[in-house]
Amino acid sequence: MRIAVVGAGYVGLVSGACFSEFGVSVTCVDTDAARIARLQRGEMPIYEPGLEALVASNAAAGRLVFSTDLAAAVAGAEAVFIAVGTPSRRGDGHADLSYVFAAAEAIGRALSDYAVVVTKSTVPVGTGRQVAAILHRVCPDGHFDVASNPEFLREGSAIEDFMRPDRVVIGADSERAGAVLRQLYRPLYLIETPMLFTDIETAELIKYAANAFLATKITFINEIADLCERVGADVQDVARGIGLDGRIGRKFLHAGPGFGGSCFPKDCRALVRTAREAEAGLSIVETVVQVNEARKRRMADKIIAACGGAVDGCTLAVLGLTFKPNTDDMRDSPSLEILPRLMGAGARIRAFDPEGMAEAKKLMPELDYCNDAYQTMRGADALVLLTEWNEFRALDLARVRDLLAAPLVIDLRNIYQPEELAAAGLSYVSIGRPPGNAGGIALYPTGMQS
Ligand SMILES: NC(=O)c1ccc[n+]([C@@H]2O[C@H](COP(=O)([O-])OP(=O)(O)OC[C@H]3O[C@@H](n4cnc5c(N)ncnc54)[C@H](O)[C@@H]3O)[C@@H](O)[C@H]2O)c1
Repeated sequence: MRIAVVGAGYVGLVSGACFSEFGVSVTCVDTDAARIARLQRGEMPIYEPGLEALVASNAAAGRLVFSTDLAAAVAGAEAVFIAVGTPSRRGDGHADLSYVFAAAEAIGRALSDYAVVVTKSTVPVGTGRQVAAILHRVCPDGHFDVASNPEFLREGSAIEDFMRPDRVVIGADSERAGAVLRQLYRPLYLIETPMLFTDIETAELIKYAANAFLATKITFINEIADLCERVGADVQDVARGIGLDGRIGRKFLHAGPGFGGSCFPKDCRALVRTAREAEAGLSIVETVVQVNEARKRRMADKIIAACGGAVDGCTLAVLGLTFKPNTDDMRDSPSLEILPRLMGAGARIRAFDPEGMAEAKKLMPELDYCNDAYQTMRGADALVLLTEWNEFRALDLARVRDLLAAPLVIDLRNIYQPEELAAAGLSYVSIGRPPGNAGGIALYPTGMQS
């Protein structure tokens, strides 16, 4: 079987590499010639654990090729996936579909034999029909079907998510399109992955509903964390106490500085837009968007308050810039809201991130970028933990205390237990837990830990 994947970003590249691992012949196409040239040299344009080796082995086997020639890639392909970006449209929050429509036009001009044109990008309800209309316009005599196959992979564990998904959703109106996609996903069917066949509109909406639900869950625990701070409770234990209820589940109950990334913020905004246009109430998601944006802004105030009410002239050591660990993706990262505000209040920021610094330098060139975690801390007035990379989970706390000018840790991911910071002589402020002073204030009993 031969397929083409249009768009070689986080989703297109991972999907293409994983399909080739299934034994399918895959051509990944991108309009970004520099990106394709790098891929042809075996260099990864993004950081994703395991991707380089997966690409290398399948490229060596001749099953995975990279090209800017969309027409050649589409000719003879049984399925053509659209995996281009759908960022927020400036101003109104609607998904910007210009990349999807441009890809559809180019595919339509290149179609020869029958193919299923599959939208893998996250697109609002109705986009599949619009893609079909474009294809009919530019290729009136073409044989094709359209389908929706939303992608649920998470950056940082994208390959595992693609290879062992909780489910595969396929929206198609024709038997033939469904059969092509069933065949393509056969290796997952064989490991009993649930396959959900729906119409196109339903598949499109499932993706947004899933992301909005997860964003709501995060926002819920974030607001509970704020309440914990007011009443002296510990959000870690609250999350565990509710998460052990099978109806609730433990995942996505980690309080933090607010969700970011390339999907949740823009997908929530786009879903709100869709609901407004359909005159359907979706006030929960509207509130989630507002609460989350306000939260990211408020995190700077929280840090300033922890530093005694002012950071003018202070040096802050910041660990983690990406929106989550194991990715280099900076899109909508909380750091982009928090750090400029701190600098606006007069702070100097020394920062380190294991994979995100190249991208961060483009967006925040005024930060002092360091070579490792400990270098950021030398003489700093506080340590701020912004992203929970594994290498920040086991810092030598005695060394942290010795390096810092003032022994203050502001842990916005609750990586550390209050007791271990206190034992190391470090004052701390975290999310949804009572603060601690190195002088040895009585710690709030955290109850059923571990
Ligand atoms: N990143 C994620 O974790 C994730 C997860 C699930 C779904 N999605 C969705 O998948 C889609 C892609 O997201 P991404 O993060 O991979 O985006 P990305 O920005 O990393 O990659 C998009 C790629 O498409 C290319 N492109 C744009 N127009 C093109 C065209 N006409 N022809 C060929 N290539 C073109 C760009 O050059 C870029 O390399 C979005 O709709 C996103 O919401 C993303």
